[in-house]
Amino acid sequence: VKTVGFVGLGLMGAPMAANVARAGYPLAIYNRTPGKAAKLTELGAHPADTPAELAARCEVVISMLTDAPAVEQVLRGKDGLLAGGRPGTLLIDMSTVSPVQSRSLQAEVGGCRWAKLEAPVFGSTGPARDGTLGIMVGGDQGLFESQLDLLQAMGKYIFYMGPMGAGALTKLAFNLMVAAQFHSLAEAMALAGKGGVDLRRVGEVLAATAIASDLVRRKIGSLVAADFAPGFPLKHLHKDLGLMLDTAHRLGVPIPATGAIHEAFTAARSRGHGDLDSSAIYCLLTELSDSSPNS
Ligand SMILES: NC(=O)c1ccc[n+]([C@@H]2O[C@H](COP(=O)([O-])OP(=O)(O)OC[C@H]3O[C@@H](n4cnc5c(N)ncnc54)[C@H](OP(=O)(O)O)[C@@H]3O)[C@@H](O)[C@H]2O)c1
Repeated sequence: VKTVGFVGLGLMGAPMAANVARAGYPLAIYNRTPGKAAKLTELGAHPADTPAELAARCEVVISMLTDAPAVEQVLRGKDGLLAGGRPGTLLIDMSTVSPVQSRSLQAEVGGCRWAKLEAPVFGSTGPARDGTLGIMVGGDQGLFESQLDLLQAMGKYIFYMGPMGAGALTKLAFNLMVAAQFHSLAEAMALAGKGGVDLRRVGEVLAATAIASDLVRRKIGSLVAADFAPGFPLKHLHKDLGLMLDTAHRLGVPIPATGAIHEAFTAARSRGHGDLDSSAIYCLLTELSDSSPNS
């Protein structure tokens, strides 16, 4: 059984690492902010003090970090993964990054003769906990097949998409639709609510129709209850919207609606909603609404 290292024990990483431990892999764990490993040590995982110390113990290192600069940070420096690992170590980066960033990370680890797969995920904290994530993999196909057992410990829907960048691009295409759904639901609810219709009733109508996805149905409840506890933090979807626009510019594809949604998320973040759930885009719209009585 291969020894696995897991770096990044945030909202997604912690439950994913727990499933790797439960599947029986010897597991080393590292998080920048200490104290997030307590539950995992109960499952037999061994905390490392630095990424380098973690990499020295592992054949495969999984990263689940905020963004590409965070991945670069854990790779580099005297305490970084690359300083501690041996040639032949495999990095499976499951963070959401752009195709360009993913290929650049591959070049960086390749300089130390590490291999890399990109394996971003769909599904939020619930599927991360239940081991039912979707995983979209890019990189060498043989390498992917050799890691299927490990990926199956975390996900139920596993897709090989093609060479490095194909998994990252699929993830951005998917999140483009996620952002549009968060935003259209928020606009619909802000409009109906300002007009004086009971939000609970509007939510019931939307949920009963064929236009409501599972995501929309789940988020209707959060909006009606004004519960914006983060499942998918707004700041992360804002980051992804920026990656979509950058990628679209490089490919010469117009994505005008996504551009407008990105602007709204920028405003929501600058108003302090970044750490709330992405459904808090609704808060921005209600804050910006005319405060005079309904006409
Ligand atoms: N949440 C979702 O529903 C969801 C769904 C699909 C994909 N994703 C993607 O999955 C990734 C992780 O998301 P999350 O929701 O788990 O985020 P999160 O809860 O904010 O966790 C981010 C993790 O990255 C670490 N980190 C950030 N910057 C770092 C740095 N410079 N050096 C070292 N560690 C650093 C954090 O460490 P600290 O604890 O020290 O801050 C934390 O462990 C993101 O790319 C996100 O877009 C999220």
